[in-house]
Formats: sequence, C-alpha cells, structure tokens
Amino acid sequence: MTEVIKYKDIGLVNTRDMFAKAMEGGYAIPAYNFSNMEQLQGIVIGCAESRSPVILQVSGSARTYAHATFLPYMAMGAVQMVNVLGAAIPIALHLDHGNSFELAKACIDSGFSSVMLDGSHHPFEENAALTRQVVEYAHEHNVTVEGELGVLAGVEDEVSHAVSHYTKPEEVEEFVEKTGVDSLAISIGTSHGAHKFKVKPGEEVPPLRFDILEEIEKRVPGFPIVLHGASSVEPEYVKMINAYGGKMDDAVGIPEEQLRKAAGSAVCKINIDSDGRLAMTAVIRKVFAENPAEFDPRKYLGPAREELIKMVKYKNEHVLGSAFRA
Ligand code: G3H
Ligand code: 13P
Ligand code: ZN
Repeated sequence: MTEVIKYKDIGLVNTRDMFAKAMEGGYAIPAYNFSNMEQLQGIVIGCAESRSPVILQVSGSARTYAHATFLPYMAMGAVQMVNVLGAAIPIALHLDHGNSFELAKACIDSGFSSVMLDGSHHPFEENAALTRQVVEYAHEHNVTVEGELGVLAGVEDEVSHAVSHYTKPEEVEEFVEKTGVDSLAISIGTSHGAHKFKVKPGEEVPPLRFDILEEIEKRVPGFPIVLHGASSVEPEYVKMINAYGGKMDDAVGIPEEQLRKAAGSAVCKINIDSDGRLAMTAVIRKVFAENPAEFDPRKYLGPAREELIKMVKYKNEHVLGSAFRA
C-alpha cells in the first residue's frame, strides 16, 4: 500500500477560492500543463514573477511519464521554490482529462488538490454518473472537481476526436445539479493541439461561439466555466520552429483577443499546453541549429525554460488578466 499524501501538507490549495476571486475580478486562472522539471519551473517562476495564482495540470499520460510517485514531490518542490523566491502564490495541482474513477482517486490520494473527470465522450447519464462518483470521493477530501459537457476536436490524452460537438446549454443545469461539480469545461469552438482550424493564408479563424457561452451563463449564473484547447499557437514560435529545421505547416490557434473576452466572462480557467511546448521547442531547435556540437542539456533546456517564463508572464499579464491577483 502506497502512502496517502494530503495536498495541504504539500502547500497546495484547491480551486474553489481561486475561481470565486476570478469570477469576481473578471479574469481567468491559467492552467498550464507540465510533465518535466523545466516546464514546471518555467510555469511557477513565470507565475511567481507576475504574482499570478496558478493551476499546474498533468494529464494521465504526463503523470505516467513523470512517474506517479515522483509527481507530488515535484509539486512540493515547486511550492518550496516560490516560497524561497519570496512570492508565495496560490498553487493547485490538477489532473487534466481524468478518464476513470480509479485514476481520479489515485491522484486525490497522492496530493492532487483538484481533478477533472472527462466523461464528455459518454452519453449524458453515464457522464453524469461517473462524474458524480468522483465528486463524492473528492469532496470528502476537500478536492475540487471539473466535469466536461460537449466534445472538443483534437487529442484529449489518449482519446482523439475528429469533430467537435458544441455543449448544449439546456443540459448544463441538470449536469451541474446532478454531479455537484465545482467547474465545467465546455465546447464552444476551441480544440486541442497546434492545428485548431483549417484556414487559407490571410483568412481569419472562425470566432468562438460566445452565444453558447452566454446562454450557459444565463442558466448557471456565477458558475465557473473552463476553456480547454486555448493555446494561441503564436506565429512567432511556429516561424522559428520551421526556420530551424522543424515542420509545422498550417499551425493555428485561438486569437488572444477572444481569450481576453472569455476571461472577462464566467470562464475562470483557461488551459494552455501547446503554447508552452511550442515555445520550448522553438528555442531548443535554435540552440541545436546554431550550436550543432552542444550536448549539455542545461545549454538547451535552460534557454527553453527562460522562454517559457517569458511566455507565462506575457499570458498572465496580457491575455488572462491573472497577473498581480495572487
Ligand atoms: O488536453 C490534452 C493536454 O494537452 C495533454 O496532452 O495527453 O499529450 O499530455 P498529453
Ligand atoms: P492546447 O492544446 O490548446 O494547449 O489545450 C490544452 C488543454 O486543453 C489541456 O487540457
Ligand atoms: Zn484539455
């Protein structure tokens, strides 16, 4: 039997208070994905320097990659590091796209302060029942739960969807009531990965369905909404990747302006994974192209971490509005 770790003992918080403040203040909490030390440090240093609360999130496969036993200690290291930096910020550790009760329970028992049960690919009743089961266990431990209604196109951990199905606003109230979830991820036109839309050069990407979001806000006033697949896929990084030997054709994301608008609404959590991957990959490619003899990981992972810090600070300050809210 492995040891049970309580998130409070690691110095983490759940998302309840973060979301209440974000709703009140008209901004969104950043949820950045990580699976290794440089990503984790880049995220927390960027958030500490911009005084932003943060949700550190890990998918099931990222947890396996980092190792389930190692992971809570990484989070503990991150909390201690920001304390030493003199910028204690609220930090949550969140399971992203959890697909079973067993996985959610294992995370709750090993120091996660928040979990997502993504049953969006199941029929409504099955999704609600599975989510409810996780909520019951999670709330016994004061862990917050995110559910999902509606399907995003792209890859969600090991589940991939070719097309999206927008969230049906008329289902939201019943789902929130039946499950007792603390927040809900919805589908309004975002998608996972670096190729979110098929557009011709110079063509605008289709706008997010703010009409659906508004309808949802009317049905569950003040309830925290989550936006997945919210990377902007910065053209600067795509250009750099392509210039230094990469091949990322037609990569396109969500315009920052639309994310700013979402952050001012009931959207309290914005998920960003691809942008961090792109920033690090762009810099690593540049280092390798310019210094082909380099083989010290610190010489390429270090600059990649610096770029991630820069990116996180920019997003917190100029896109999510979470900077100086810690
Ligand atoms: O929504 C999916 C996240 O970007 C996680 O991706 O399963 O490759 O870790 P991953
Ligand atoms: P992106 O692929 O747009 O970064 O989305 C990440 C995400 O939704 C993680 O759950
Ligand atoms: Zn997601």
